[in-house]
Amino acid sequence: MTDLSNKKPETGAFFPRDRSLHPPAYTPTYKTSVLRSPQKALLSLDGTKSEITGPVFGHSMLGELDNDLIHNFAKPGESAIGERIIVHGRVLDERGRPVAGALIEFWQANAGGRYRHKKESYLAPLDPNFGGCGRTISDENGYYAFRTIKPGPYPWPNGVNDWRPAHIHFSIFGHGFSQRLITQMYFEGDPLIWKCPIVLTIPDRAAIEQLVAALDWSATIPMDARAYKFDIVLRGRRSTLFENRMEGN
Ligand SMILES: [Fe+2]
Repeated sequence: MTDLSNKKPETGAFFPRDRSLHPPAYTPTYKTSVLRSPQKALLSLDGTKSEITGPVFGHSMLGELDNDLIHNFAKPGESAIGERIIVHGRVLDERGRPVAGALIEFWQANAGGRYRHKKESYLAPLDPNFGGCGRTISDENGYYAFRTIKPGPYPWPNGVNDWRPAHIHFSIFGHGFSQRLITQMYFEGDPLIWKCPIVLTIPDRAAIEQLVAALDWSATIPMDARAYKFDIVLRGRRSTLFENRMEGN
């Protein structure tokens, strides 16, 4: 949980972003940030109505295999090559309240570290049975889960010899556009995490560790898949929780 004791007075619908936990926009060791970062000072704007509203997603929009990357691109009877894993956890807000009905989208490289994308140039082969993207929606307790294969690390043109650690990209829509989060999940024990110029733009080690999913032995399926647990915390709402009027009712 975020310590709220030193925060500014609570006005507006959501807590402001804590920029001390986020990487600065300009980080020359991550080369493309140089041209992408703002050249002028940021302006601070009050919250708007468009920030406190958000899209509503229904389970009816999901396909049967949307949360199974092992099979959602595979030919009938076949499956993706790689280490079979389950990624699961809860979507919470900064006060620890579950965020139900959040659309969670994820995309990743295949087991060899290659993306299925026309601009991808890494020499690792494509897997004909692996597409690399999927989606799911959190349940009433904020819980989500999906099956996939563990992505491989890949090299990228930045420094002379930079490699991305194995990672899965996430996009999460919360209850309001203020809560929209795009981030990356890493895997416990991967030594490449601490060599990655993108990861190392995050100034706080504890914030990096929040992006590292832990091996979750209790959710492992014997003779099938290992599990990794990844809880996701979105920006919190300022409204008081009334126990007789729970979220969404
Ligand atoms: Fe990536």
